[in-house]
Amino acid sequence: MAALVASRLRDIPDFPQPGIVFKDFTPLLADGAAFGTLVSDIAERYRGTVDVLVGIEARGFILAAAVAYELGLGMVPVRKAGKLPGETLKESYALEYGTAEIEVHTDAFEPGQRVLVLDDVLATGGTAEACAQLVERAGASVAAIEVVLELAFLGGRSRLDGHVVNAILTV
Ligand code: PRP
Repeated sequence: MAALVASRLRDIPDFPQPGIVFKDFTPLLADGAAFGTLVSDIAERYRGTVDVLVGIEARGFILAAAVAYELGLGMVPVRKAGKLPGETLKESYALEYGTAEIEVHTDAFEPGQRVLVLDDVLATGGTAEACAQLVERAGASVAAIEVVLELAFLGGRSRLDGHVVNAILTV
């Protein structure tokens, strides 16, 4: 699976700002067979062990929705601040580039639900850490955090101690 993902990622230099090499996974999404294989791989790793999927805006939405559909489960969006219409919980975090806030609806989960968090990239880990805190503050439990790509040189995994973290490809 790692080789397939590696073959469908492309580097975009100087995006979103000079000096950052952006790992673009749109070629993976555009390849129906590869995307299907990715979704099945993730779904089978967690079938029967999670109750609901969380997708982190924006690329995590794509993955979480597909895996949730494959497993017959629901999907909860964790969004950038100001996008969710209902009452929310909010966490601030530092990004590899800049700062941000994310939110989840206060009533997004049933108490104790086992949550699989999905995102495309684990970089500094700030986003995933903030998301895990939101899930727990909302009364659910983080079963695992799954990403397509981990940028290990940024050390994000160290911020997620106590959580199961799986990356399909680590660079
Ligand atoms: C990217 C990526 C992750 C996050 C990882 O999202 O999709 O969510 O950064 O970075 P971190 O581990 O250093 O926190 P981004 O904030 O660019 O948002 P977008 O998907 O809406 O473009």
